[in-house]
Amino acid sequence: MNAPTPRPGILGIEPYKPGESLVAGVERVIKLSSNESPLGPSPRAIKALVAAAKEQHLYPDGTCEAIRSALGRRHGLDPARIVCGAGSDELISLIARAYAGPGEEVLFSEYGFLMYPISAMGVGAVPVAAPEKGLKTDVEALLAKLTKKTRILFLANPNNPTGSYLAKDEVARLVAGLPKAVLLVIDAAYAEYVTRNDYSSGAELVEAHDNVVMTRTFSKIYGLAGQRIGWAYCPPAVADALNRLRNPFNVTASAQSAAVAALADIAHVDAARTNNDIWLPWATAALERIGLKVAPSVGNFILVRFPAGRKNADAANDFLAARGIIPRKMGAYKLPHSLRITVGVERDMRFLAATLAEFMGA
Ligand SMILES: Cc1ncc(COP(=O)(O)O)c(C=O)c1O
Repeated sequence: MNAPTPRPGILGIEPYKPGESLVAGVERVIKLSSNESPLGPSPRAIKALVAAAKEQHLYPDGTCEAIRSALGRRHGLDPARIVCGAGSDELISLIARAYAGPGEEVLFSEYGFLMYPISAMGVGAVPVAAPEKGLKTDVEALLAKLTKKTRILFLANPNNPTGSYLAKDEVARLVAGLPKAVLLVIDAAYAEYVTRNDYSSGAELVEAHDNVVMTRTFSKIYGLAGQRIGWAYCPPAVADALNRLRNPFNVTASAQSAAVAALADIAHVDAARTNNDIWLPWATAALERIGLKVAPSVGNFILVRFPAGRKNADAANDFLAARGIIPRKMGAYKLPHSLRITVGVERDMRFLAATLAEFMGA
């Protein structure tokens, strides 16, 4: 008898490989591989987590009422249109399950976040990548890839791993060019780090169009990646579809409590943004001074290109790892000559720059 076989597409998925977190023989590891906050969670979130520990025998609030209300107040949004998930990863998968199926197409940009092709293939859809220009999403190239089969367009803004972003008017141009039946998902996981006047996370587009969703996360600036909580701001019909499809208790009670507390700690978020505002440009300049190419980034990470030959990205990765610094290798993104490095605190950035200077000079 034949063994059970997964549905078409599943075995074509290249499993997502998370950033490394351990180096054999190194005690103090500086993990710069997953764009986590170097400041950690807010002390208020930690307090909420400790309090939540006593209530672990109870199911969580399946409607995520407290955090949706808090998000509504903070961002001026309608809580009824917010759907929470176990990280924005879960929301990306739910959207793919709800809106794409076998033989249909899911569109994204060439160096877009890897969960887009993974979630497309998970539902038997065909992942379609549009070429980028200079490591930046190209609106016209995306529109040129639309076909009758396109169901979803995932846009990371800013994008991981390139760090580039589309200005508000460029996103508006993209929306204007989309057929109404194609759902645009603006993945704004790094929105809180962006300090550009011409940037918008896209909430106003969600309110103006029935085919635009914005996803956000508590994993990045809020320092709660371990809790797994993200949210989507949706047109009412999309919120309804996702609420039917999601598991009834998809976000843990501790994640909900921690997120409410983290959202209220404005000073902690400001400190994380300020750290980034200082050490992102500092690290960019320091690495460019030693001859490396750094893509301009508005996120909390940089994409660093290494030369071919002896000083290549793999050699740099090994050199850094031997000294306890873990960057992210970019082979899975088809950027094998680059490493992605999360912006850390001063001490870690100074050590990173000194170590790479030694590597390039050695
Ligand atoms: C662009 C982008 N979207 C979504 C995610 C998923 O984040 P989470 O599932 O932790 O919310 C990430 C994480 O690296 C990301 O870089």
